[in-house]
Amino acid sequence: EVYNPNGKYRVVSTKSMPGTRWINLLVDQDCRLEICTEKKTILSVEDIISLIGNKCDGVIGQLTEDWGERLFSALSRAGGTAFSNMAVGYNNVDVDAANKYGVAVGNTPGVLTETTAELAASLSLAAARRIVEADEFMRGGLYDGWLPHLFVGNLLKGQTVGVIGAGRIGSAYARMMVEGFKMNLIYYDLYQSTRLEKFVTAYGDFLKASGEQPVTWRRASSMDEVLREADVISLHPVLDKTTYHLVNKERLGKMKKEAILINCSRGPVIDEAALVDHLRQNPMFRVGLDVFEEEPYMKPGLAEMKNAIVVPHIASASKWTREGMATLAALNVLGKIKKYPIWADPNR
Ligand code: DGY
Repeated sequence: EVYNPNGKYRVVSTKSMPGTRWINLLVDQDCRLEICTEKKTILSVEDIISLIGNKCDGVIGQLTEDWGERLFSALSRAGGTAFSNMAVGYNNVDVDAANKYGVAVGNTPGVLTETTAELAASLSLAAARRIVEADEFMRGGLYDGWLPHLFVGNLLKGQTVGVIGAGRIGSAYARMMVEGFKMNLIYYDLYQSTRLEKFVTAYGDFLKASGEQPVTWRRASSMDEVLREADVISLHPVLDKTTYHLVNKERLGKMKKEAILINCSRGPVIDEAALVDHLRQNPMFRVGLDVFEEEPYMKPGLAEMKNAIVVPHIASASKWTREGMATLAALNVLGKIKKYPIWADPNR
């Protein structure tokens, strides 16, 4: 699909993206935009090299693509200077290789914070109240009347939510759980972000002033403290060498037997095979997963576990957010090609 065929700058998007604003932005700024219409979901390095061709100023790509040495050298040979990942996470991008070939890399932070946090909150509630199991039960025609023991789950109010990685998304999730469900909070973060501290302090003052029961909150000095104490734990770190298999067999063993674990960050943060074993041995332990170690696959056994809720990497999938991500991705490319000052999230 080609827009503005006579445009001066050739920009390739490896996928069609929601909305039209991003298309109009590029077209209005003299770009010839080519959107790949290939049906297969995940493009190989070879597929993308052929899309880049001999002349290409910038590429908008996806988190499913492996942006390493080969792609950046191909892009630079084609005269390209910009690669924009339509995602906040950029573990699929070798930034050193991009630097080596003089290609600037952009991502799309900010616009997906609340949407992603809302999915983590949805999974937390769904796991606590066993909504997916109950839905299957109902559709299976098994409901034959109200019973005192039927799908008894957890009340979140008064329980402790644990957040690992208190950046933009982790902090937004913590706020939702504290403010919305009056959960106590314990969190762990490698960086000295004060985002969450400011919120909980102000919220604590508000609860006190309004005579409501206060929530407690604490910044943990180790991750294990969070694992031991929290009833619901949500993972929000970036994926890099230090966070690969951050949650492994040993750490799963430190969590409460009835804990709920949520992951809307990146799959490899959890050792998924160890998680399947843990779910088997601890039927009261529950997980809500949006991401998987080797997407699009799940480790054997996971799909059969009643105590797991699995969804296909949809945390940022709200219309507003996806259109915003597409717009930002286009602005990032334009910012580089046309040397415009680009929109920048002050917290980036
Ligand atoms: C991201 O942006 O990194 C998400 O995983 C997809 O929105």
